[in-house]
Amino acid sequence: LRRVAILLSGGGSNMVALVRSMTGDHPSRPVLVVSNDPQAGGLAKARDLGIHTAAVDHRPFGRDRSAFESELQAALATEEPDLICLAGFMRILTPDFVAAWRGRMLNIHPSLLPLYPGLHTHARALANGDHEHGCTVHEVTEELDFGPILGQARVPVEQGDTPDSLAARVLVQEHRLYPEVLRRFVVGDRTPIHLSNFHSMT
Ligand code: GAR
Repeated sequence: LRRVAILLSGGGSNMVALVRSMTGDHPSRPVLVVSNDPQAGGLAKARDLGIHTAAVDHRPFGRDRSAFESELQAALATEEPDLICLAGFMRILTPDFVAAWRGRMLNIHPSLLPLYPGLHTHARALANGDHEHGCTVHEVTEELDFGPILGQARVPVEQGDTPDSLAARVLVQEHRLYPEVLRRFVVGDRTPIHLSNFHSMT
């Protein structure tokens, strides 16, 4: 069984979806959840799910990202993960860290990459007048939100959408997409998958 560590900064709904998927005949198991924010809601949720957790607060390290990442690597080393899933992890990782986990680190991003890397993706999609939006799971490479795409899920933008209403619609799809991509990735299947909810009402 492949050992999966999940990194998060917030509420951890994607973490919960990933953890719940890794049971039974799934080829991997969740071994550790790490947050850069000791107060992250996702840490409490992980503990409730019986997963080991660690907090590595980035703030004492100031701008010294490598010192922060040394601590992060040390925390990860305790559980010897094979793979890292970034799930709402809001710190930029250095090229050294990315290189250390090359081919073994996935990220979920709330846009249809290559559209809207970075922050405020839902507001940007609305401001641009897009008719569809979604999320992407990709391998992490040095360039932010840019690695090889492993899967995308599309949702319609609806009349009267706000960034929050659109984010909620996308998040439902994140919870479908990420577990599906992870399951395939651990058995070596990197063929991109495409989900959508456009027809789910019919
Ligand atoms: C998710 O929408 C995820 O795609 C996004 O943060 C949210 C975390 O929610 N990630 C990024 O913006 C990465 N730059 P969660 O904590 O409930 O999974």
